[in-house]
Amino acid sequence: MEREQEINTATLPQHLAIIMDGNGRWAKQKGFLRTIGHENGTKSVRVTVESCAKLGIKYLTLYAFSTENWNRPKFEVETLMKLLISSLKKEIKTLQSNNIKLNAIGNLTNLPESVQKELHEVIQKTADNTRMTLTLALSYGAREELVHAVKKISNNVKNNIISEEAIDESIINQHLYTHNLPDVDLVIRTSGEHRISNFLLWQIAYAEFYFTEVLWPDFSEDHLYEAIISYQNRERRFGKTSEQIIPEKNV
Ligand code: IPE
Ligand code: IPE
Ligand code: MG
Repeated sequence: MEREQEINTATLPQHLAIIMDGNGRWAKQKGFLRTIGHENGTKSVRVTVESCAKLGIKYLTLYAFSTENWNRPKFEVETLMKLLISSLKKEIKTLQSNNIKLNAIGNLTNLPESVQKELHEVIQKTADNTRMTLTLALSYGAREELVHAVKKISNNVKNNIISEEAIDESIINQHLYTHNLPDVDLVIRTSGEHRISNFLLWQIAYAEFYFTEVLWPDFSEDHLYEAIISYQNRERRFGKTSEQIIPEKNV
């Protein structure tokens, strides 16, 4: 908590994306089933969501289930889906009281009907909330997202809705699941893994990365502040020189 004061609220990442990893290892270390790790991970989700909203972060995106995660053991996938439903039912209150809007990205039609129903209900109920947009990446894979976008664009070209010449970065952006979100500024990955695992490939083109050894169920407010402070101490140059960013350096 002490570190919260070190955060400059004027230079917060506008869009923070988190790869919540390490639930299985957290449980295994304690001699529990992997699914106990997922249950405990939901507490870190609540703490992170509330802390981000309090700080003033406008967009928070959480990688909750990847297209590749469908290949996990059936029991684990089923438990994750149940956990998703119970968390949505329980956390609607947290979202409403914090004025947070829920959004979801991914191949959502692959989710069980019961999950889709709960998800759409919470999305609908929180649609007018304005403080922060919380996006859950569910059955999400960046490559699948790009294939989906290319199909939609080519269909629009075929039907003369857009011309081939008009295809540019903005058109591609508009056809991604993230069309209503800004580019990602900061990606946090927990559990010591240094990889992207098919998360938001297009949207992280100029994101900063923060990796921590902390396993997701142990991720606290202080760990979040630590990541934001690290982000705020970096110089984002977007291809320019340091002197162009900070003219005083020219002397
Ligand atoms: C992240 O934790 C949660 C999901 C991918 C659903 P993991 O379940 O990947 O935990 P580890 O990486 O096996 O420890
Ligand atoms: C990435 O974690 C997906 C989520 C956090 C939901 P994984 O644990 O599935 O990633 P890999 O397979 O180890 O790269
Ligand atoms: Mg993992």
